[in-house]
Amino acid sequence: MTVTVLGLGEMGSALAAAFLAGGQRTTVWNRTAGKADALVAEGAVRAGSVAEAVAESDLVVVNVKGNDAVRAILASAGSLDGRVVVNLTDGTSGEARDLAARVSDQGAAYVHGQIMTIAPAIGHADSVVFYGGDSAAYERHREVLSLLGGRGAYLGDDAGTPALFGLAMNDTMWGTLNGFLHAAALLSSEGVEVKRFLEHATASLSGLLGYLPSLAEEVDRGEYAVPFGALKHHLPAVADLVRESRDRGIDDEFPSYTLRLVRAVVEDGHGDDSYSRLVERFRSSPAS
Ligand SMILES: NC(=O)c1ccc[n+]([C@@H]2O[C@H](COP(=O)([O-])OP(=O)(O)OC[C@H]3O[C@@H](n4cnc5c(N)ncnc54)[C@H](OP(=O)(O)O)[C@@H]3O)[C@@H](O)[C@H]2O)c1
Repeated sequence: MTVTVLGLGEMGSALAAAFLAGGQRTTVWNRTAGKADALVAEGAVRAGSVAEAVAESDLVVVNVKGNDAVRAILASAGSLDGRVVVNLTDGTSGEARDLAARVSDQGAAYVHGQIMTIAPAIGHADSVVFYGGDSAAYERHREVLSLLGGRGAYLGDDAGTPALFGLAMNDTMWGTLNGFLHAAALLSSEGVEVKRFLEHATASLSGLLGYLPSLAEEVDRGEYAVPFGALKHHLPAVADLVRESRDRGIDDEFPSYTLRLVRAVVEDGHGDDSYSRLVERFRSSPAS
C-alpha cells in the first residue's frame, strides 16, 4: 500500500512524516518543491507534478491552505480514476460537499477529514481526526489513516459532517476561551493571579463541563422547562458582570452581548426556561 501527500506545509509535512514512520511508501508533492527535501531525506519519494504524485498511489491525501487551493491542485491532476482522495484541509461543510462532487466527477472516491489537533501531535494515540464521506473508501484505508491519530472517528457518508463537527468544536472553544480571558482581565485588574483563581475554580469548571449533556438533551428534544436555575436568575448576574467590567475600565462588549441575549429571551416570555433556550435565539439571524 502506498500513499501520496499533496501539500507539505506545517501540517502536510507532519502527515507525510507519520505515514513514513508507520512504514508506508510515501510520495510527496508541494508547490514549493524544496519543502519536500527533509521528507525525501527520510525516505519519501518526490513527485515532480501533481499528476505524477497521484499516479503513484491509490490513496491521495491533500492538505493545503484553503479549499480553493485543493480545487486547483486536484483539477491539475487530470484523471483521478480509481483513486481515494482524503482531503484534510480545513473549510466549511459546503466546501467539503462541493469537493466530494468534483472528485467523484473525476472518477475518485472522496473522504473528508477534519484534523482536531496541532501538527506536533499528529501520529499520537490520543489525537482526533473526524472522517466522513465514502464509507467503503474509508474502510479500505482506515488502518493507514490511523497512523495520523489513534482516535479517528468515521461520522457517516456525508462529507460535510467532519467540517461541521470541527467548526462546532472551535465555536465552543472560542466562546469558552473568550469568557476565560475576559475573566482573566477582570482578575488581573485587581492584581489577582489567574492561576490562583483557577486553583479555586476547578470544581466549578468541571461542573460546567458536566452541565453540557443536559443542555444537549434539552436542545435535541426542543424542551426547555427546568425546575431551577432558569434564565431569569441569570439576568441579574450577567448585569453585575457588565457593571463590574465597566467599573474597572474593562471592555464590556462580551458580557454586554450575553446580557442582550438573555434579556431578549426573558422579555420574549421564556424567563422560566433553561439557559439552553438561547439556542432558539441563535437559530434566527438578527436581521430575520
Ligand atoms: N498547522 C497546524 O497545526 C494545523 C492544525 C489543524 C489543521 N490545520 C489545517 O491544515 C491545513 C494546512 O495548514 P498548514 O498549517 O500546514 O499551513 P501552512 O504551513 O501555511 O502550509 C500551507 C500549504 O498550502 C500550500 N498552498 C497554499 N496555497 C496553495 C496553492 N494555491 N496551490 C498549491 N499549494 C498551496 C502551501 O504550498 P507552498 O509551500 O508552496 O506555499 C503549503 O504546502 C489548513 O487547512 C489548516 O487549517 C493545520
